[in-house]
Amino acid sequence: MPTAHRTPTIGVTRRMPFETDADLVIGAIFEDDRPAELRVLHEVTGGEVERAWQRGEFKGKLFDVLVTPVGTGGQRAVLIGAGLRKDLTADRIRRIAIVGSLAARTRRVTRIAFGGWDRVAAAMPPDQIGRSADETVAQACAEGIVLANFEGGSYKTDDSLRPMLDSVELCPFDDGAGVRDAVARGLVLGEVSNIARELANEPGNSLIPRVFADRARAVAENAGLGVEVLDEAAIGGLKMGMLLGVARGSHEPPRLVVLRHEPSNAIKGVTLGLIGKGITFDTGGISIKPAENMDKMKDDMSGGAAVIGAMAAIARLKAPVRCIGIIPMTENMPGGQAMKPGDILTSAEGKTVEILNTDAEGRLILGDALWYARQLGATHLVNVATLTGACVVALGKTTSGLFGTPDRWVEEVRQASERAGDRSWPMPVHDDYKEQLRSEIADFTNTGGRAGGAITAALFLKEFTGGLPWVHIDIAGTAWAEETKPYQPKGPTGVAVRTLAQLALAAESWANVTSER
Ligand code: BES
Ligand code: MN
Ligand code: ZN
Repeated sequence: MPTAHRTPTIGVTRRMPFETDADLVIGAIFEDDRPAELRVLHEVTGGEVERAWQRGEFKGKLFDVLVTPVGTGGQRAVLIGAGLRKDLTADRIRRIAIVGSLAARTRRVTRIAFGGWDRVAAAMPPDQIGRSADETVAQACAEGIVLANFEGGSYKTDDSLRPMLDSVELCPFDDGAGVRDAVARGLVLGEVSNIARELANEPGNSLIPRVFADRARAVAENAGLGVEVLDEAAIGGLKMGMLLGVARGSHEPPRLVVLRHEPSNAIKGVTLGLIGKGITFDTGGISIKPAENMDKMKDDMSGGAAVIGAMAAIARLKAPVRCIGIIPMTENMPGGQAMKPGDILTSAEGKTVEILNTDAEGRLILGDALWYARQLGATHLVNVATLTGACVVALGKTTSGLFGTPDRWVEEVRQASERAGDRSWPMPVHDDYKEQLRSEIADFTNTGGRAGGAITAALFLKEFTGGLPWVHIDIAGTAWAEETKPYQPKGPTGVAVRTLAQLALAAESWANVTSER
């Protein structure tokens, strides 16, 4: 398969952008700037920005774009509107960097420089984790640049795809170790997001569970993670009746991938367990889905891809905490052996489940995986899944749902998602909803009806968390962008990858969270 992304080289220099060999310079201008007062820019553009401002063509409004020649050497500048100074955040910088980088690629330019970013850094509010504004800006820029170097049309055989960026210089910038490390961090976080996006974009006929497991192994080995791939016999040996129950409808055997990060400087007594839904295609099974939009269900492994990407970043950035990643992988198909409504499955934990709808398969494979994470010593659990249409109804397409306990653990995940640029918001998981899962014949059912469907799904998962601190991130609405935005092309978003990585990097702040609140 052709590559869907490339990580460009990103340099930091104290030189001015026009002194580099970049063909195009990307700058940001605030709505409350006066272009005539930006002396260097005013001179090199011969006053063009000021004239565009006067005409009303470009006034620095967020994500507006102005392209203008600079000097006489054929260089050009792309200016991106940055909105009001007071509204500047790291997330906004990441997005501005994406808009600028995409604009360069559209103009078929591959060597670019970011100019005037010292001025952007000066507008940044102070960081709560004590990083300098330069570092925050450098990391966010690097993430954005790499995220822009992704193409969803990886199977196109014509030459309609925009070229990928080759090299980027950030200037003029403090080029000390702190900023260089920040750029390196941003590069890794962008790259692993793209790896997850590439996996989510891959069609169901190529990314079958066996292939998904091979790809996970390759990414993990490259990052220096421990990898173990359990086949159907090993999964049977663990008596994972829910994962096997879903897999029975398919000719393709299931897999369970286990990734391990065990640093020598790990915080004692703490193991972060990351679990991702890996349904490589969800037909719904015997409770089959309607034809319309069923093609979208190739991305039903986005949670699994997020865990793979995050674990790679955790290893490469040497997060100071033991982490295990677990990804159960299977298709959900309506084959002759498929589970049927009314069937009863026995989970690895021993709890029995009455299947009322075979399309509620994600919670089944995750239940067995959550149990396994506990067997392997996890003390803190986070699972990520494209779990319910109900979550999309509740929160829409920009915000992932957070479900879990205790509140402090949910809040830690929410803050990590803010740092990552992934929006998320807490939802209730009170036990009152549990009666919706009551079964006459088994311990509980696998669906709780239409009311509060995202919540009852979370309560099902909670049954398998053994009372540990646990958060479930429902990314059904956020894993795939259906509309192109200036900073986000249509397609897989890589949501939750950077959230999970940021969470592991901040382990010191949550290591003392326990199930009591
Ligand atoms: N993978 C789907 C959830 C989904 C729906 C993701 C739409 C992205 C967009 C999940 O397996 C599913 O089918 N859930 C059902 C559960 C229901 C049968 C209780 C749903 O949400 O309809
Ligand atoms: Mn389903
Ligand atoms: Zn599904």
